[in-house]
Amino acid sequence: MITVSAPGKLMIMGEHAVLYGHPCIVTAVDERLTVTADHLSDGHITVDTGKETDTRFVDAAIAKFFATKGIHIKDRGVSLTTRSAFTSQIGFGSSSAVSVATIKALSILFGVPFSQRDVFDMAYAAMLDVQGLGSGFDVAAATYGGTIYFVAGGKMIEPLALDAMPLVVGYTGVKASTTALVHQVAEKKEHNPEKVGRIFQAIAGLVDKAKVQILEGDWERVGKFMDFNQEYLRDLGVSSQKLEDLIGAAHESGAWGAKLSGAGGGDCMIALVPPEKREVVIAAITAAGGQVMPVHAHAEGVNEVSVLRKNTL
Ligand code: MEV
Repeated sequence: MITVSAPGKLMIMGEHAVLYGHPCIVTAVDERLTVTADHLSDGHITVDTGKETDTRFVDAAIAKFFATKGIHIKDRGVSLTTRSAFTSQIGFGSSSAVSVATIKALSILFGVPFSQRDVFDMAYAAMLDVQGLGSGFDVAAATYGGTIYFVAGGKMIEPLALDAMPLVVGYTGVKASTTALVHQVAEKKEHNPEKVGRIFQAIAGLVDKAKVQILEGDWERVGKFMDFNQEYLRDLGVSSQKLEDLIGAAHESGAWGAKLSGAGGGDCMIALVPPEKREVVIAAITAAGGQVMPVHAHAEGVNEVSVLRKNTL
């Protein structure tokens, strides 16, 4: 029996534009999801997802694993149990984390030596089978961990070397539909291709500048780029009053920069915050009606739990 654990994610910059071929920056967060896998001698496949009733992503990942060319497993009986430290409500990427963790768990259990790239490709294909759209940034975060400069489909997966990210995360309490927001932006692009195209170009420019400053550790400048990114997201119509309230509270209490994270409409906002302002910003976001999530960025990617424990000791 083996247990693997995969991290959640937060989009730092570049959401929506990434679906149109532009880069984004994503970080893995230390809210994790585990998958425990064991052989079943009766040849059956059983899936227990606990309180989470949606088994589609686990089922799709299992199907992809067993359909992979070159894998010949005679006795396919397996039991899979998934447990998550976070709910699918907050936009931390439970679907991507469970897809990645399932592929990784099966590869270890059946002794198939997959590279990180293999895990990414297979989990991404499984996710596309279920939801039909997505750049895969969340799958990359769950697979590789850390902070990544990413281009859709994994055309580029560039891990960024950094120590820690001074991030504060506020949850709006509102569940957003990524699919609805992605379609909303697509419609906007259809009606006004030039304007929306220019917005995407501008966001891509900010992502590239932010990447350089992240590597330099200049979080104040990254914060400024996040602010500009938020203005473009507002123009795209994906922000909300609640997000704006929390973002405004972060600014007024001394954050270097703040924006929504993900598709928009709800879910989470993020702020980059000087260490001495952290407590004040947390209090301001809370007073504005947000729930500050106790998460750290730049978490480790998917791995066997025993290996993860060793790495953190
Ligand atoms: C959603 O969290 C981010 C989007 O860019 C979708 C995606 O990249 O898959 C809107």
